[in-house]
Amino acid sequence: MTVTIADLDFGRLYRDHMIAAARIPRPASAWDTRAADLQQKAPNSRYAQAFIARMDLADASTLLDVGCGPGTIGLPLAPRLERVYGLDYSRAMLDALEANAVRQGLTNVTALNLAWEDDWSDVPVCDIVVASRSTNVQDMAAALAKLDAKARRRVYLTHQVARHQFDPGAIEALGRKLLPPPDYIYIVNILHGMGIHARLDYIESDHRLAPAADFDELARRIAWSLGALTPEELGRLRDWHERSAPSARSNAAAPMRWAFISWDKP
Ligand SMILES: C[S@@+](CC[C@H](N)C(=O)[O-])C[C@H]1O[C@@H](n2cnc3c(N)ncnc32)[C@H](O)[C@@H]1O
Repeated sequence: MTVTIADLDFGRLYRDHMIAAARIPRPASAWDTRAADLQQKAPNSRYAQAFIARMDLADASTLLDVGCGPGTIGLPLAPRLERVYGLDYSRAMLDALEANAVRQGLTNVTALNLAWEDDWSDVPVCDIVVASRSTNVQDMAAALAKLDAKARRRVYLTHQVARHQFDPGAIEALGRKLLPPPDYIYIVNILHGMGIHARLDYIESDHRLAPAADFDELARRIAWSLGALTPEELGRLRDWHERSAPSARSNAAAPMRWAFISWDKP
C-alpha cells in the first residue's frame, strides 16, 4: 500500500517529537524570572520591527497577542487599533505589559492571564491574532486550532527554525544525545491538514545566548532548556568550559532564525 503525506498525522508527530526532545512544559514562574530582561530587550528590537513590517492591519481594529510577554508586538501596534489583548500565563510578563502601556500613555490594552492550555471561551475573537516566539507548546495542533478560532481576518506567528540551541561541544560534554526541538515545518503541515495554505517567510534575531559571561551563566542557560543538570554533568560541562577557548565555543553569537507563518481567514 502506498503511504502518502495525507496519511501522516503531523499533530501526533509533533507531540512525539516534543517528548523525544525531552522538552518538558515550563511553569509560568520560569518566565516570571525573565520578564525584566525581555522588557528591556524586546521592544523596538530588529526582530520586532521585522515582524510588524510583515503584518497587514487593513480593516483591523482589534488584536490578540498570545504569549505577549512585555508587549513586544501588541504595544507598538496599539496606537493604530481600538483594542489590544495581551494573553500570557506569566503574571510578571503581564505586569511588564501593563507598565509599558501606562508609560506610553496607552489606555486600550487589556491583559489576559491565561495559558495556551486553558479554556479560551472568554477570549474575544479579534481581527488579527499574533503568536510571536511563543508557540513552544506540547500540543501544536490544539494551539493552532485556538489561534485560528480567535481570528476574524489574519493570523501571524513565528516559530524557531531547527537548530541546536547550544554549542554542540557543550552538549557532547554533558554526554546527552539531544534532539533539537520540533521546528516550524510541523506547523506548515498541521495547517495544511486543517485546509490552511499558509504563507512562509523568515526573520533573523540576535541570539539571546550571545556568549555566556561565565560558567555559571552557561550552566543556568542550559538548565533553562533541559532541566536541572546532575552534579556529574555539571562537572563534565565545567571541564569542557575550562578546556575550550571562548572563540571555539561556537553557536553562541550566531543569529536565531524564525519562520514567519501567516494566513488569512476566508
Ligand atoms: C520568548 S517569550 C516571547 C514574548 C513576546 N511574544 C516576544 O516575541 O518578545 C515567550 C512568552 O510566551 C509565554 N508563554 C510560554 N508558555 C506559555 C503558555 N503555556 N501559555 C501562555 N503563555 C506562555 C511566556 O510567558 C513568554 O511571555
